[in-house]
Amino acid sequence: VALLGLGRVGSAVARLTLGDAWCRAAFTITGALVRNTAARAGVPFPVVSDARALLDSEPEVVVEVLGGIEPARSIVLAALERGIPVITANKSLLARCGDELFDLSERTGTPLRHEAAVIAGVPFLCAFSGRPFASRVSHLSAILNGTSNFILTQVASGTGFDAALDLARRLGYAEPDASLDLDGTDAAEKLTILARHFGGLSLQPGQIARDGIARLTREDLRCAGAFGGTIKPLACAAWADAPAAWVGPAFIRGDHPLFPVRGIANGICLESRLTPPLVFSGPGAGPEATAATILDDVLNAHRTEPVVRGTGAIGQTAEGLGRVTVSEPPTGWFVRVSHPADRLDPLGVADLLSTFDVWIQRTSTPSDTAAPNALWLLTHPCERARLDAALHALRAAARCDTCTVRVVETTHE
Ligand code: HSE
Repeated sequence: VALLGLGRVGSAVARLTLGDAWCRAAFTITGALVRNTAARAGVPFPVVSDARALLDSEPEVVVEVLGGIEPARSIVLAALERGIPVITANKSLLARCGDELFDLSERTGTPLRHEAAVIAGVPFLCAFSGRPFASRVSHLSAILNGTSNFILTQVASGTGFDAALDLARRLGYAEPDASLDLDGTDAAEKLTILARHFGGLSLQPGQIARDGIARLTREDLRCAGAFGGTIKPLACAAWADAPAAWVGPAFIRGDHPLFPVRGIANGICLESRLTPPLVFSGPGAGPEATAATILDDVLNAHRTEPVVRGTGAIGQTAEGLGRVTVSEPPTGWFVRVSHPADRLDPLGVADLLSTFDVWIQRTSTPSDTAAPNALWLLTHPCERARLDAALHALRAAARCDTCTVRVVETTHE
């Protein structure tokens, strides 16, 4: 095995390979690519700074854990050209260069496996391998960013947002630039990979509408609880009809399969017309969990996964979908309306919204929260544009602020 990168995950792969008797018997690390070889003196396998030299040593498998786009992209392309299977945990690379990499993998018949790129500690993609019926997923909702889930869970139990983020950083969950966790970029990259795998959608992360979690308060979470649900950092995609994909905080009810997925855990709920939702959850990050998933991929490196591509849309081919413009379907909305000084009249708010055909399912009562000048609403499904117009009028008429979160439900009854 040639290792590209010896950072936190690369080092964990090396530790596991060298430290576990079974791994020692199964794999040998023939070399690792690092930036500074002098700083790695004493590592019990060759370290090089020249990728070509590493590939020239003819490894049977390349494990790419460099992160980022270049030089990872060029080296992975070179390995695939040479027919060397590649295992990668690099979500940014797959999200942004997936078309090019998977096309070359298919063209050369060289496996490119990536179980550890999304929900790194839970091997769920392999559960669908060789299972065309199970793979007919038509839409999915998922918690793909552990840092955001950890922060919202902490805030709900009374920790401040900044303190929760500090803790996520100290525990090593957050990205080096944590804004990528908080604004939904990390989840959008992972959603791109899943939408390609299950729906054959060719998306770029920038095409996915996304909201961050920073605007949420403890009172929002408390009120979501009073409404019988919670707010989770979700990533959702659908492709059976108009392709849709978005990332952002969402209100889910207590019977949603992702409701119990708390703290740093990730979870995914895959839905189809044929079966009840399939749900997987577990660690989404952590060097050891990621390394274990990578090494399982190494064991299966020579197996080519049948590419699912578009089977989610029954009767529709990947070619039919191709590169898409992503829509945002109508949903229910969880809305906070707050006034700087005065109590709001729920009936007046409902009246105004109804003139825009936005209908309220439920409003908070004063006992739901400790914020007397705020009101929370759950609306019936409507398009975002209609809700935005109604809230614009409300802000102008009542001089209040608003904050909106989508409502997500499973389609299975
Ligand atoms: N920062 C990421 C997360 C790490 O919080 O989920 C795993 O990709």
